[in-house]
Amino acid sequence: MTAPDLPAELKAALGARLQGFSRNEAADAAASISRTYRDGGGSAAIRTETDALAYALARMPATYAAATASLNALRELAPHFAPQNLLDVGAGPGTASWAAAEAFSSLQSFALLDANSALRALALDLAAGSSRLRELDYRRGEARATLTDADPADLVVASYMIGEVGDAERSALIELMWAKTRDTLLIVEPGTPAGYGRIIAARKQLIAKGAHVAAPCPHDGQCPIQPPDWCHFTQRLPRSRAHKQIKEAELPFEDEKFSYVALARAPVAERPARVLAQPVVTKVEVTAKLCTPDGLVVAKVPRRAKADYARARRWRWGDAVIDVDRA
Ligand SMILES: C[S@@+](CC[C@H](N)C(=O)[O-])C[C@H]1O[C@@H](n2cnc3c(N)ncnc32)[C@H](O)[C@@H]1O
Repeated sequence: MTAPDLPAELKAALGARLQGFSRNEAADAAASISRTYRDGGGSAAIRTETDALAYALARMPATYAAATASLNALRELAPHFAPQNLLDVGAGPGTASWAAAEAFSSLQSFALLDANSALRALALDLAAGSSRLRELDYRRGEARATLTDADPADLVVASYMIGEVGDAERSALIELMWAKTRDTLLIVEPGTPAGYGRIIAARKQLIAKGAHVAAPCPHDGQCPIQPPDWCHFTQRLPRSRAHKQIKEAELPFEDEKFSYVALARAPVAERPARVLAQPVVTKVEVTAKLCTPDGLVVAKVPRRAKADYARARRWRWGDAVIDVDRA
């Protein structure tokens, strides 16, 4: 499975891009973009080269890690999936395309769409030295218009994008993305109740159109999670020096919370249960919250069931697990 940290080629390209830029200026731009996001705004605030670079330094490591974790979950459930082409909707600096290139060596062509010129320019610059992404095709424009003209792709990805589209427009966009999906559509969102709400709505909309969930859900039925709970996962990622500086942070890592759904044209062969929170391990038992084909279950695996206990001790939040012993 692919590691959550940015690939060496991308790190080097970002480092090279940072040469000649004032880190203070980039940190100020990153802080202002973060404020806009916190206040419910989107990436329309990213207008200049400095804004785009600040966004990429501050957010690309985390959205890359979330996209990678989602792609890893998809690959685990669909081990024979070997997409030839990718359509990255709301591609920004190209994050999900880089993640998909790492996850699938089969990918040969990359089509990216985005309305933001500054992010598009940065994406082209970052990809220029990449062995896999050098030839990418990046169209600038409104998602629905550019998607209408786009060729269908084996894998379509919308990473941290659908939340920037108004409620009224979102379901038409999702339908269009599905129409352009030959095999699998992956949608990744922030792991907030609102992000999960958009994922669950897209999931319901496309299951009604014949889609099947490949990951994370072990079924195509109604989500059993009730508010105030929501389905989300977390991915730890390392912070580089530039990343720490730009975020004015001390810790050498951060944990990105994300929600996702991978919807496929054909059902996957296996539907393992999904670990929905970090299991609690004691000397007596392992307690794990699982989503199973029959709904939510709190599994308790006692220590006396030696082999099962040893296996359950290794479960991590987000894992797909089989042979679950239920309490
Ligand atoms: C938060 S960024 C995510 C970028 C990238 N996918 C990632 O995961 O890092 C959202 C992207 O969606 C794009 N976007 C939002 N609404 C759009 C629309 N209606 N048409 C085209 N692009 C859009 C923005 O320009 C921005 O680049």
